[in-house]
Amino acid sequence: MKKYKSLDAFWMPFTSNRSFKAKPRIIEKTEGVYCYTDEGRQILDATAGLWCVNAGHSRTEIAEAIGRQALELDYTSPFSFGHDIGFEFAERLIQHTPGNLNKVFFANSGSEAVESALKIALAYQVARGKAGKYKLIGRELAYHGVNFGGISVGGLTANRKGFGPLLPVDHLPHTLDLTRNAFSKGLPAHELEKADALEELIRLHDASSIAAVIVEPISGAGGVILPPAGYLKRLRELCTQHDILLIFDEVITGWGRLGSAFAATEFDVVPDMIVSAKGITNGIVPLGAVFVDDAIHDRIMESAPAGAVEFYHGYTYSGNPVACAAGLATLDIYEREGLLTRASGEIGQYWQQSLHSLRDIEQVVDVRNYGLIGAVQFAEGAFGDKPVGAAFQGACYDNGVMIRAVGNSIAFSPPLTIEKQHIDQLVEAIRKTAAELF
Ligand SMILES: Cc1ncc(COP(=O)(O)O)c(C=O)c1O
Repeated sequence: MKKYKSLDAFWMPFTSNRSFKAKPRIIEKTEGVYCYTDEGRQILDATAGLWCVNAGHSRTEIAEAIGRQALELDYTSPFSFGHDIGFEFAERLIQHTPGNLNKVFFANSGSEAVESALKIALAYQVARGKAGKYKLIGRELAYHGVNFGGISVGGLTANRKGFGPLLPVDHLPHTLDLTRNAFSKGLPAHELEKADALEELIRLHDASSIAAVIVEPISGAGGVILPPAGYLKRLRELCTQHDILLIFDEVITGWGRLGSAFAATEFDVVPDMIVSAKGITNGIVPLGAVFVDDAIHDRIMESAPAGAVEFYHGYTYSGNPVACAAGLATLDIYEREGLLTRASGEIGQYWQQSLHSLRDIEQVVDVRNYGLIGAVQFAEGAFGDKPVGAAFQGACYDNGVMIRAVGNSIAFSPPLTIEKQHIDQLVEAIRKTAAELF
């Protein structure tokens, strides 16, 4: 029995509200790699919620940790007061971060963590007497959340247009190139030159005006766009050479998605900051974080007079104790079950081989994959004048699998606990859906 009268009151995010409310898709229960609809149908969750439920759904240990924490210490101000679990969680997190990224600034979402990272970059430049370095460089097709900093550095036109003047930013070109890189397995071999566009932007703006470059190591919401081999290393070299900070937004790529705790570790490139969220608590309680290099943190600390607040930024829920409890229980699972590296093993190989088997569908123009992330792109116009992705997402749901629509592509990021039979189910559902739609 529903406890609401209608669907009217909830204005749904990033949704065609009118389409949804005409044909609702209500999930009533989740367990493991499955969701269950209000009609009692079992749906394979090939998106881990929204790229976040990396350890699978409804994990008892996390639920119990949340309950225990809420009863013991539910909330206390993080401004000038502390609690043990915040310090414990920060210390556990940095066991997994690369290089000297040993300081953690907590936020509540990926969007807020992005804003925090951008503000830390600006505060750092001011702290070292380089306030003129205030411009930010993002990338085309990037998604960095929906707040004003994030949409400024982001490169998805629909998310940017109509929101007035944004921050002073410029953008690198995206790295998707089907002419040379279609059907690459793992990192594409061509287009490393795209990284050199940063040199052109530096020539245009001058390094003395640029604070930071922010990129997703693999763009998720833009359509699972992989960096050409060597691309991230080249960005790192250029940033170091020109005294510009490099920020990796690992909201999606973090916590085992690519076969290491972070893309930075997987690709052996250490940025100055890593933005994290989603899988950090297995998506269960909202929490974002920025992992910051010691040198950046220390410079900001030292530049403020003794006794002063060093950084005028923070959230009511920064390091919320219940979120930290969820995060600690999540880390326990990741570590105990080897989930942070599982995608680089046999299951990742099976994933790659299975996704690429879809290449024989006539309308498929690309298959992309790394670790346990992937996308299939369809030919423009394959579904008339409508984007293929949205039609595919709806029909796939009717065929028992949840996928994500991105323009003419469909994207997947299953729970890292996925088994071979679930991958087979996904591939079969895609074939069936393609046969129905085309
Ligand atoms: C790379 C990236 N950054 C930031 C965000 C924003 O995170 P949130 O939706 O938690 O604000 C997302 C969300 O998908 C993301 O993929």
